[in-house]
Amino acid sequence: MNLLVVGASGFLGGEVCRQAVAAGHEVTGTYHSAAVAAPGVAPRRLDVTDRAAVRALLTEVRPDAVVATPYRYDDWRVTADGAAHIACAAAEVGARLVHLSSDALHAGRPTPYLDDDVPTPLHPYGAAKAAAETAVRAVDPGAVLVRTSLIVGEGSKQIQLCRDALAGRAVLFTDEARCPVHVTDLAAAVLELVPTDLAGPLNVAGPEAVSRAEMGLLVARHDGLDPAGLKTATIAEAGLHRPAEVRLDSSRAAGLLRTRLRGITEVLA
Ligand SMILES: NC(=O)c1ccc[n+]([C@@H]2O[C@H](COP(=O)([O-])OP(=O)(O)OC[C@H]3O[C@@H](n4cnc5c(N)ncnc54)[C@H](OP(=O)(O)O)[C@@H]3O)[C@@H](O)[C@H]2O)c1
Repeated sequence: MNLLVVGASGFLGGEVCRQAVAAGHEVTGTYHSAAVAAPGVAPRRLDVTDRAAVRALLTEVRPDAVVATPYRYDDWRVTADGAAHIACAAAEVGARLVHLSSDALHAGRPTPYLDDDVPTPLHPYGAAKAAAETAVRAVDPGAVLVRTSLIVGEGSKQIQLCRDALAGRAVLFTDEARCPVHVTDLAAAVLELVPTDLAGPLNVAGPEAVSRAEMGLLVARHDGLDPAGLKTATIAEAGLHRPAEVRLDSSRAAGLLRTRLRGITEVLA
């Protein structure tokens, strides 16, 4: 298969590339400001905010499938418009599209979110991810939208945040619940979805919900660090308005996929 990974210089995109190359696929991977580290990938620079450049690259590469991962937390043009540009170009060349979405599009509530729960974003990043989904679905109803949660593993910024909080340089919220997923599990799930005709939103996250603070304690145990230094707070204490409890119910994905999505306790054992 001729696979295009947009955001191959990123954490998830890099792992998707490594697994795809290992599986014998021909992989083109894009970067914007960093380098593509995965060996065996044909690197191409791409700015997804440039609609014409996205179209030109896809027309040239003519991929069978596209895995779209790029985002910038504070840049609508990358997260929302960029996703739309990729979807338009993928549809034009007839490529299967796996779009990476996020639990950040939910407002938070005590009960878990199902695959097709409608977005209720609270902050600009969540709104950008919701807009990205809307655009992708409008352009390509056959695309699968992988809604995921905190991506962990070596090199994860989520794990780094825990280490920073253990060193007193950051704060972890005690009331912000998420379902972390390991990057290798998520990348394998993404690649498994490529040859399917699954369409629409699909939750692909770990089976275990933990608070950010609980994850900090698991990282302390894993790294052999003293948990006493862990800096925690509630979202309200920090004066923020952000989604608290966002648990993704990934049971449909778990039933559909061969890839086992491990819980965070197992990952950090
Ligand atoms: N990380 C998480 O915990 C988490 C949680 C839920 C959902 N997600 C979703 O999962 C996906 C992957 O996340 P990640 O953590 O792997 O992201 P990441 O490591 O931050 O990588 C982001 C990628 O986007 C690229 N990019 C940024 N601006 C670009 C632009 N203008 N044009 C083209 N590419 C651009 C970056 O390229 P350069 O580095 O080369 O600039 C990089 O390859 C995202 O869609 C995110 O919303 C992530």
